[in-house]
Amino acid sequence: MSEMAGKLFSWLNNRLPIVNTFERHLSKHPVPSKVNFWYLFGALAAVTLIIQIVTGIWLIMPYSNTEEQAFSSIEYIMRDVDYGWVIRYMHTTGASLFFAVVYLHMFRGLLYGSYQKPKELVWIFGCTIYLAMMAEGFLGYVLPYGQMSYWGAQVIISLFGAIPYVGESLELWVRGDYYISGITVSRFFALHVVALPLILIALVFLHLVALHEVGAGNPEGVDIEAHLDEDGVPLDSVPFFPYKVLNGLVAIGVFMTVFAIIMFFFPEGGGYFIEMANFQEANPLVTPDHIAPVWYYAPFYTMLRAIPDPLGGLIVMAAAVAIFFIVPWLDRSKVASIRYKGIYSKIAITLFGVSFLTLGYLGTVGVTEIRKIMSIICTIIYFAYFLLMPIYTKYEKTKEVPTRL
Ligand code: HEM
Repeated sequence: MSEMAGKLFSWLNNRLPIVNTFERHLSKHPVPSKVNFWYLFGALAAVTLIIQIVTGIWLIMPYSNTEEQAFSSIEYIMRDVDYGWVIRYMHTTGASLFFAVVYLHMFRGLLYGSYQKPKELVWIFGCTIYLAMMAEGFLGYVLPYGQMSYWGAQVIISLFGAIPYVGESLELWVRGDYYISGITVSRFFALHVVALPLILIALVFLHLVALHEVGAGNPEGVDIEAHLDEDGVPLDSVPFFPYKVLNGLVAIGVFMTVFAIIMFFFPEGGGYFIEMANFQEANPLVTPDHIAPVWYYAPFYTMLRAIPDPLGGLIVMAAAVAIFFIVPWLDRSKVASIRYKGIYSKIAITLFGVSFLTLGYLGTVGVTEIRKIMSIICTIIYFAYFLLMPIYTKYEKTKEVPTRL
């Protein structure tokens, strides 16, 4: 039996480079010998993506994408489908945790200059993944057809209307109807379950292929390719298996524990993961008292609200995401890691982090005069971090980077 299996495997391997690819890109792939916890979030993002896809497939089965049944099919999943509530809460918790780990993963990139040459393309694929995730999250939130689905969609779709000349037609084209209806739900469903997952999977694949081409970084910003052994393997590297795999498994264990605690004990996340208004069916005649996006869009929503003119708000919000794409060309520093950058970079990234969190908080609460002023100040700090980067990274005093890890 084992001889037959061996023969079958070598038949396959002679036609498909299984062993070669596995060794080159997984088991024997050299990775830096010293990294820290910030380097675990990429793997956790991949785990969360898989959870979203698997639970999503199961949710599609009992979900109904019609105006009449969308909301009640979710209630049916929660109450009558065997373990339907587990699958749904995994998907909703997964959505929030997906954004949480990706935000941490992106912040790691900013901290350690992971976007610097030659990793520009890894970063650009990452930014495109983030854009696709934002679209995916929004489309999914409309599907339960609760009050927040409806009114959130109303706010976001009407943003297209602010674009000069084509705005109105674009709005109609996105909505598929003169008002949000079953047609909108149906097209959002198709995009959420087929188009965007395919795009996300393709982008993650390209992100990892590009990363493997140039090699993973480390918190010291040391180029491990500069010191190779006689076989051409970096001296400061370890093979992906077993070192990284075991490391990753511990992280996944901790992550899944946090995941389970949220899912079983706080599935609504205090109204941040599933907003309370979304437990009521969509009603075009009743506007909720307070329309707020889910927490992961909140910083950008605050920027939108901070600008009184709708087109101006839209431009600022789009620019806030788009600016990430050009970070590799904004950073003029000779060093990559924040450990060796100067004081200006350290102050800048701290202020950026604080302003981003404050913007996030402001987006989840109502507007007051003082909050409006805070929104404007934080928006200015947010953009200043990026726009002044070419100056402060070029002229600050940096520390010497070690040659070995
Ligand atoms: C579905 C989402 C994503 C997945 C599954 C993913 C996966 C990964 C994995 C497994 C790694 C290698 C391990 C690590 O360094 O953590 C990595 C590295 C990296 N990712 Fe992502 N990523 C995602 C989104 C993003 C986003 C949104 C960005 C930035 C905008 C980004 C930027 C980077 C960069 C720059 C690296 C290289 C880090 C280095 O080697 O120094 N990724 N990603």
